[in-house]
Amino acid sequence: MEDSKKIRILTGDRPTGRLHIGHYFGSLKTRLKMQENDQYDPYILIADVQALTDNFNQPEKVRKNVRELVIDYLSVGIDPKKTTIYIQSMIPETAELTVFYSNFVTISRLERNPTVKTEIAQKKELFGESVTYGFLGYPVSQAADITTFEGKLVPVGEDQLPLIEQCREIVRKFNNTYGDVLIEPEAVLSNTKRIKGLDGNDKMGKSLGNAIYLSDSEEEVSKKIMSAVTDPNRIRKDDLGNPDVCMVAYYHHLFAPEKELKTICEECRAGKRGCVACKKQLIQYVNEFLNPIRAKREYYEAHPEIIDNILLEGTRKARLTAKETMKKVKKAMKLDYFES
Ligand code: TRP
Repeated sequence: MEDSKKIRILTGDRPTGRLHIGHYFGSLKTRLKMQENDQYDPYILIADVQALTDNFNQPEKVRKNVRELVIDYLSVGIDPKKTTIYIQSMIPETAELTVFYSNFVTISRLERNPTVKTEIAQKKELFGESVTYGFLGYPVSQAADITTFEGKLVPVGEDQLPLIEQCREIVRKFNNTYGDVLIEPEAVLSNTKRIKGLDGNDKMGKSLGNAIYLSDSEEEVSKKIMSAVTDPNRIRKDDLGNPDVCMVAYYHHLFAPEKELKTICEECRAGKRGCVACKKQLIQYVNEFLNPIRAKREYYEAHPEIIDNILLEGTRKARLTAKETMKKVKKAMKLDYFES
C-alpha cells in the first residue's frame, strides 16, 4: 500500500532505562504485530525532551539510554524498514508546536491531569513543593509529538489515557480557532494486561527491583527467578500448592508451552512438584525466550554505526513529515509571512 494512504501510528518511550519483559508483553508485542500490517505506518519516538522534564539534572543518563532503547527495539524484532524510529529533540517543529499549543491549555487543566498529578506526587524528591513549568507542561509537548506526525492511532497503556485526552482537547480548540488543520488522535488500549513483578507487585519496574530485563544475562535471570515469590502456605515439597498465588506459576503462563502449562499447575496443586524444580524449569523457558534476543543485542552492540544510521535515517524521514505539518499550521495561524 502507498505510504500516504496508510494509517499513521505513533508510540513513544522516555529513554530513562532498559526495557523489561513487562514492556515486551505490554507494548513491544503490539508494536511487532502492527509493523506487519500493511495498512499501518508506525512511528516510534524516543522522547528525550520529555525524559529531561524529570531528569534535567541527568543529561548523561538520558543520552545513554537513547541508544540502549534502540538496541532493545531491534533485539526483539522492531524492523526499521517498517517502523520509523526517531529522536524527539531532533524535530524542532515539535518544540515550536508546543509553544503554539500552550495558548490552548490552562494551568489548572494541566494540574488536574490525573497522570501528571500522580507523577508529581511521586517526584516530591525532585520538585519539592513546587513543580517546574516544563514538567507540568509535558502533556502539551506530548500533544505536539502526536500531531506533528498526524498520528491517528496511539497505542498506549492505561496510564497514558489522560494525556491522549488532553491532546484531543488541544486539537479541537486549535481547529475551532484556526480551521481544520490538525488530526484528532485516538488512543488504542493494548489488550494485554500489565505484567506483575517477581515479588507479586502489580507493576514491574526498575525502582521496585522486581523486573527481568530483555538484556539480563542467564545468571541474572536465574538469580532473580530463584528468589521469586511462591505460594506462602507451601512449606514442604509435598504440601498442596496454589499456583494462583505463585509468581513462578504466573510467569509459566507467559513462557511455558501450552501443553506443559496444564501439567505444571496440576502437579503443583497435587504437591507433586517442588518449587525449586519448578523455578529451574521457568529459568530454562525464560532463557530460551531471551536467547535469540541476546544474540541480536550482541550483534548491534558490536555495530554501533548501524544504530546511528537507523536513528539518522528515521529522524530524517520524520522531519519531512514534521515540516509539512508546520507549513499547514503556520498558514492557519497567519504566520506564513513570506510564503505567498
Ligand atoms: N509519555 C510516554 C511514556 O512515558 C512517552 C511518550 C512521549 C509518548 N511522547 C509520546 C507516547 C507520544 C505516545 C505518544 O511512556
